[in-house]
Amino acid sequence: MAQRRSWAEPYKIKVVEPIVMTTRGDRDRAIEEAGYNTFLLRSDDVFIDLLTDSGTSAMSDRQWGALMQGDEAYAGSRSYYRLEDAVRDVYGYEEFIPTHQGRGAEHILSQILIEEGDVVPGNMYFTTTRFHQEYAGGRFVDVIIEEAHDPASPHPFKGNVDLAKLSALIEEVGAERIPYISVETNVNMAGGQPLSMANLKETYELCRKHGILLMLDATRALENAWFIQQREEGYQEKSVKAILHEICSHSDGATVSSKKDNLVNIGGFLALRDPKLAGRARDLLVAFEGLHTYGGMSGRDMEALAAGIYEMVAVDDHVRARIGQVQYLGEILMKEGIPIVQPIGGHGIFLDAKAILPDIPQAQFPAQALAAALYVDAGVRGMERGVVSAGRDPTTGDHRYPKLELVRLAIPRRVYTQAHMDVTAESVVAVTEKSDAIPGLEFTYEPDELRFFRSRFRPVVGSG
Ligand SMILES: Cc1ncc(COP(=O)(O)O)c(C=O)c1O
Repeated sequence: MAQRRSWAEPYKIKVVEPIVMTTRGDRDRAIEEAGYNTFLLRSDDVFIDLLTDSGTSAMSDRQWGALMQGDEAYAGSRSYYRLEDAVRDVYGYEEFIPTHQGRGAEHILSQILIEEGDVVPGNMYFTTTRFHQEYAGGRFVDVIIEEAHDPASPHPFKGNVDLAKLSALIEEVGAERIPYISVETNVNMAGGQPLSMANLKETYELCRKHGILLMLDATRALENAWFIQQREEGYQEKSVKAILHEICSHSDGATVSSKKDNLVNIGGFLALRDPKLAGRARDLLVAFEGLHTYGGMSGRDMEALAAGIYEMVAVDDHVRARIGQVQYLGEILMKEGIPIVQPIGGHGIFLDAKAILPDIPQAQFPAQALAAALYVDAGVRGMERGVVSAGRDPTTGDHRYPKLELVRLAIPRRVYTQAHMDVTAESVVAVTEKSDAIPGLEFTYEPDELRFFRSRFRPVVGSG
């Protein structure tokens, strides 16, 4: 028998949700009304929604069945204990603290560990994570390897921590000013790029030597585990489940947005090893999220989440198909010569807007402009990950200009087909071919915090 050469999704489709293609005129109007911000579009005006992979997964029949078993008791819900078991089994942390979503966990963690003037290193910032660190009085310092800032670098582990940068920071500010390092798995803002197990281990050892905690952002740790299996020596025979467990073993705790790897539409958690620290977290939890046995989730949410956690690691074919679909789209774009972040990442394709729109200065938000133009072409919604997302420096008030100026096309899990990927690729190619016509943008409204969500723009007169 011929050897099997292709993979296919390890599921079939039982329920579908109709989507409608709008006209070009509709989309011109919609983007203007949305102030050229794809976050402000109505989803009814979107054909293929690649805004985010967060909370957009399709749940399985088992997860939908689990919803019916939700125990909605205010205190001591059976569903809480089921979820606690799932987190202990799969992630390996003893102390489990449920939150309404990832940023709830980031808030609690930042509040219990960071004091005014502290420094929190991390392997590239994430928007909400850094916000909570700064809100708690901390200062974020980027210690990711330089390759992560270069969209064309083929480094297989662009999420790695630069140990020399971290050591220099410890030397400069003193270990006592660093409560923890925040290490993100499959780094979102770098293009969904993994870190290696070897690097994580070394980082953890360095931290322990200095009495600094290592907290993971394990939101996409499963996807990181897949890349370790594929790329790091010694892991080819291990399951992603075993690798995920090992990743977590090199940390003191984790924040997780369950809206990604965990295959649910809402939820998250903070997980810790130290029971004393967990006690402090629970004290705050009751004020900000909810009682410690639900933390902002309903019983049914917790049931679906427990089922999702087991499902994501049940067979390696799940994550193979998930990342395989992202790779499918990326490979078409690369063949067409579209500049994208390389290697292709775990949760989406990141278009290099600086390379596609070299004539638009970064102060006129090329990635924001490209995301808007892409939507207008065929109704594909992506999002800006560049200077708008980076926000302003809290001390100088100036824009922070990141080296990466990207449009992210994030692929929801188990939602779209290969044909949707083909349509997306064709639209990206069409827009890139006409990129001279795309104007730069300027703010008409700029919120003070996390501005990318709600800011509004207009085209710069005379550009494009
Ligand atoms: C890496 C990372 N950390 C944290 C979060 C925040 O999680 P949530 O959106 O569930 O609050 C996200 C969400 O996009 C993320 O990608």
